Amino acid sequence: SATPVNVTVTGAAGQIGYALLFRIASGHLLGPDTPVKLRLLEIPQGVKAAEGTAMELEDCAFPLLAGIDIFDDPTAGFEGANVALLVGARPRAKGMERGDLLEANGGIFGPQGQAINAGAAEDIKVLVVGNPANTNALIAQRNAPDVPADRFTAMTRLDHNRALSQLAGKTGAAVSEIKDLTIWGNHSATQYPDIFHATIGGKPASDLVDQAWLESDFIPTVAKRGAAIIEARGASSAASAANAAIDHVYDWVNGTSADSWTSAAIVSDGSYGVPEGLISSFPVRAKGGEWEIVQGLEVSDFSRGRIDASVAELVEERDAVQGLGLI
Ligand code: NAI
Repeated sequence: SATPVNVTVTGAAGQIGYALLFRIASGHLLGPDTPVKLRLLEIPQGVKAAEGTAMELEDCAFPLLAGIDIFDDPTAGFEGANVALLVGARPRAKGMERGDLLEANGGIFGPQGQAINAGAAEDIKVLVVGNPANTNALIAQRNAPDVPADRFTAMTRLDHNRALSQLAGKTGAAVSEIKDLTIWGNHSATQYPDIFHATIGGKPASDLVDQAWLESDFIPTVAKRGAAIIEARGASSAASAANAAIDHVYDWVNGTSADSWTSAAIVSDGSYGVPEGLISSFPVRAKGGEWEIVQGLEVSDFSRGRIDASVAELVEERDAVQGLGLI
């Protein structure tokens, strides 16, 4: 039988962890032929709850689950990791300035990057979910100089899926009929969900909705959906975030479908005027275990302004963590 793939999940005892681990163990992260060994990384206060989740995982008797280990030390947790899902992060506390938030997360993602550098497997693939995800991914990546930079990615797939669903709802189309939507920029309220290359049942999406809906409804609804979920549920998105993480890694490993691209925050090569080295969301396809940015798309003035605004925020965050000596 196949060799198990080591999957490290940080923040394993959190809400997203609880929604994520069972789907990894049942084969949805990597596919139905790939056994997995779970490596759960928590802070010491989270270990007991992670042990409880591990007991439930055992009780599912998943045929593909080849083992579970729990750690509170990053170096041990990332040892031999083939896939790392960096979910645990420091949330913004009341009255916390952005600089404080970036610094607190630097204290998590710097050492985790170093641990990945020291002991992860050659083929390590990293997805950062914990916010601020793009900049946390940048911190981890810069702390892992021996790992190819393009192995560090951040999640905008939830935003992508939210955009698909909003557009389907508006037009009455099935989600599966919508192709080539893009989320550009930062996973934050400045993100730009772009329908100008999207098609619905083969027709240009921009012929089926008007600009007013786009500007005053679609874009803000997608960008502020996280806050709306908190307002309604009293807790932040968890199952949908876990689902998006599954989608992102599944596509990275198995390849995107031939008939549509998707969105992921990956290291910029300078495409579309996004400064090289920033981890920014692009239209992407995956093939042979590597992401590639979809090239040659025409960018209108409207889109240009939105992309530039979100990228400017990423530049500010990068400069802030540079100023703090985190990268
Ligand atoms: P949660 O608070 O329920 O769980 C976080 C877990 O991480 C806790 O168990 C905590 O003990 C653990 N943790 C904290 N520091 C850690 C460290 N240094 N190493 C290992 N574990 C650590 O939070 P939840 O709801 O699971 O969300 C996790 C993160 O995902 C948050 O930062 C949230 O903002 C982010 N998120 C990102 C989304 C995206 O689309 N990129 C969507 C939804 C949430």
